[in-house]
Amino acid sequence: MTRIFLAICVITSIFSSVACVNKGGNSGGGGQTGDTIKVGVYGDTTGATSSFGLSTKNGIQLAFEEINAAGGVNGKKLEMVFEDDQGTPEKAKTVISKLISQDKVVAVLGEVASSNSLAAAPVAQEAKIPMITPSSTNPKVTEVGDYISRVCFIDPFQGSVMAKFAANTLKAKTAAILGDNSSDYSKGLTQFFEQEFTKLGGKVITKQTYAQKDQDFKAQLTQMRDQKPDVIYVPGYYGEVGIIAKQARELGMNQPLLGGDGWDSPELWKLGGASLKPAYISNHYSADNPAPEIQNFVKAYQAKFQVAPDSLAALAYDSAKVLADAIKRANGTDGAKLKDAINATKDFKGVTGTISLDGTRNAVKSAVVLELNPGASKFEFKETIYPEGMTPPASTSTAANGNTATNTTSNTGTNSATNATK
Ligand code: PHE
Repeated sequence: MTRIFLAICVITSIFSSVACVNKGGNSGGGGQTGDTIKVGVYGDTTGATSSFGLSTKNGIQLAFEEINAAGGVNGKKLEMVFEDDQGTPEKAKTVISKLISQDKVVAVLGEVASSNSLAAAPVAQEAKIPMITPSSTNPKVTEVGDYISRVCFIDPFQGSVMAKFAANTLKAKTAAILGDNSSDYSKGLTQFFEQEFTKLGGKVITKQTYAQKDQDFKAQLTQMRDQKPDVIYVPGYYGEVGIIAKQARELGMNQPLLGGDGWDSPELWKLGGASLKPAYISNHYSADNPAPEIQNFVKAYQAKFQVAPDSLAALAYDSAKVLADAIKRANGTDGAKLKDAINATKDFKGVTGTISLDGTRNAVKSAVVLELNPGASKFEFKETIYPEGMTPPASTSTAANGNTATNTTSNTGTNSATNATK
């Protein structure tokens, strides 16, 4: 039966480029059937953080297309099986279970929001299916176990980046924090920002909280206003942040608003408009970085999706290429071998920087500080901050986020698939 199926595959693949999926077959290799490797992807495409999931899905789609166009991985094509989790931890857990047990994916890429990754990760760990989160930054996510890794930095670093920027660049002495109490991400950043800001001689004079989907923040903001903080740190997601910015300005508060990667969405401009100034965020990469490997990616993504890639798209793209590179090095998709290969990732040249996983499966990378320009609906590059012990590349002014030149030579972006198959 399998032989007949394979024969049909060979014949059809001569006439078409469509990969064969042996739906009913039990190849023993999980999602590696015929000439296709199935990878699960989950994220929010319809809920309160839907721009996160949409960008993530696009980034992975572009990466898979480039890899497949260059011959695939070990001669097999990568196939994405996507599930929408509507941005809730409960749904995230349900869909990752479905991807693993029903679709038999060999690995999972996702989620974005840390609370959703935290809910889903134990399922992957239990099933011994590697999960790479492109963009969840809360430290607890990879602590779930050795099958869970990430290609982004973590929040103790991200929180300290903004605290340093507030204290050293903005010369702030006092700060207020308005955090999302329903998000592990926001709770972590609140803690890490305060630690570093205090260490630098600053003082957090008031901390207020809200919950996801709240619409009215005036009570918290009014309390803050009376205490006249030099800066206001809002470590939340774009949906609430946009409204918070508006209400703060309506209350006559003109302090710089500071945030993190959770602000990164094209939706932010619609919600916050001109109120998003002065404002600064920490983030993973800058689409303005003139380094050719970044501009190739930006061009290819823009041509395909008619929008500039945000950091979610860039991280998702990198996670897909890191996974492909690991499948190649593991010489297959056996879960245990694949997770070892992923965890051994070193000096991988991604568009979000050079990716090396440390002993706790977190990427050690630089971060960027971006200044918001609502007039142009743009996050503009301000500075790069490196983690302690990481030496900035000696090179050139083009290394705006710590990237050095890679082997990408094509100006279409498709050639960067060589990254994954080297
Ligand atoms: N870091 C955020 C979290 O852990 C997710 C995020 C990453 C959002 C990058 C936007 C951009 O919840």
